[in-house]
Amino acid sequence: MAVDFRGHPLFPRGFNSPTRFEADVYDCEVWGEIPSDIEGTFYRLQCDFAYRPPENEWLPGFNGDGHVSAFRFANGSVDYKGRYVKTDRLMAERRHRRRLWGVYRNYLTDDPLVANVHRGAANTHLYWHGGKLLVLKEDALPYSIDPVTLETYGSWDFHGKWTATSMSAHPKIDPVTGEMIAYGYQARGDLSDDIAVYTVNPAGHITNEVWLKSPYLGIIHDIAITQKYIVIPVIARTTSLERLQSGEPMWVWDGSLPTMVGVLPRDGDASDVRWFQGPARNTLHFLNAMDAGNRILMDLPVSDEERSPSQIKRWTFDMNSRNDRFGEEAVSTANGVLARMDDRYLSLPYRYGFVGNSDPSLPFDEARVGGRRRVTNTYQRYDLMGGPTSTFFVGDTQSLQESGFVPRKGSTEEGDGYVMGVASNYAEMASELHIVDANRMEEGAVAVVKLPFRLRSGTHVNWFSAAELAEQEASA
Ligand SMILES: [Fe+2]
Repeated sequence: MAVDFRGHPLFPRGFNSPTRFEADVYDCEVWGEIPSDIEGTFYRLQCDFAYRPPENEWLPGFNGDGHVSAFRFANGSVDYKGRYVKTDRLMAERRHRRRLWGVYRNYLTDDPLVANVHRGAANTHLYWHGGKLLVLKEDALPYSIDPVTLETYGSWDFHGKWTATSMSAHPKIDPVTGEMIAYGYQARGDLSDDIAVYTVNPAGHITNEVWLKSPYLGIIHDIAITQKYIVIPVIARTTSLERLQSGEPMWVWDGSLPTMVGVLPRDGDASDVRWFQGPARNTLHFLNAMDAGNRILMDLPVSDEERSPSQIKRWTFDMNSRNDRFGEEAVSTANGVLARMDDRYLSLPYRYGFVGNSDPSLPFDEARVGGRRRVTNTYQRYDLMGGPTSTFFVGDTQSLQESGFVPRKGSTEEGDGYVMGVASNYAEMASELHIVDANRMEEGAVAVVKLPFRLRSGTHVNWFSAAELAEQEASA
């Protein structure tokens, strides 16, 4: 059966059509100069549909096949490698040369041929921990891949100790202890209301496991950690057996539901969890959280309704109060939904957030980019100490994807380093990686890595230094 994406609502021909290829570029073309102190690999994931999904797929389509891009930096040069994760899911479709999976996380719409196949698409996020590069998708166990060749080793269950049926794509790594706090939800199978929370030591062994019940079947895409607590928000995007039986993708927004936030002591068990409550909020990703006396502060991009603009806000949980409500106040006016930080300060008091932002007042060459109106044309660095917001403007034909923070070699000062992210250059129909000095964002990119092809819009990114990769490989 021939592959034909024509007429599919997800794939207007153009920048975000499936790319369906793997690539190596030795010694990429670079405009500017790559600082020689950048040594390591910038990993990014995209959903790259190998086969055409059903037409009622959930926009913008997180049900594609995981495709890893690795930009490997050494001595002022960069090599690119792009590979599909060779999931059981993708390989089953390749064998049959057609789409076998139904709509987003709805097993009732899958082809019976794949009833017993691992459904993980490995398309959301990747983490380096315990000497393994894990590629994650929240409805299944992760895949482990080779950090250099990107060869797929297979799915990973933490030496048989991960008893949940899924692992979320957003674990958190504690920069102080080196532990990974990870979790699965719908953790006893699709539609189950179980949450399993694990602590994994730096060598990759599970040292603690706590099972909780979710207040309702809402999405739990991300969590946050402090040095004392794990913060688990349940968001008003919900599902039911009836919904799956109707053939629809898993999630639907329901603004009548509350936001429920579980707060679990890192050394506690299920009886220690405390649930806070607030009005429905639309959010998926959390930037950071920290302890402040008896309170927990958590910063996140969030909006009030499903389609209203996002803003960075701070939620406050008072552990001494008998009130089960959490507080909310604005932190920054940036309107992007993906925010990152210097991860060496994750779970700790921090100063800088880096967030994508759409600024319609900046130049935009509509004639050359085919009339796209809303693009992420800046990265903003906001300063919680009250300093000015710094802005990097990418250019008038590009849109930025999630950024990663790269610490300057030898420096431990928060925010001293580079902000790096892939941009879609619509005029050139090609992708580029922009490298920006985090202390001089207004000056523009110090280097732009020009790829001779386009990548689709990405999901998440992570930077791992060469030293970090070597150290973990040795310890695991
Ligand atoms: Fe995510």
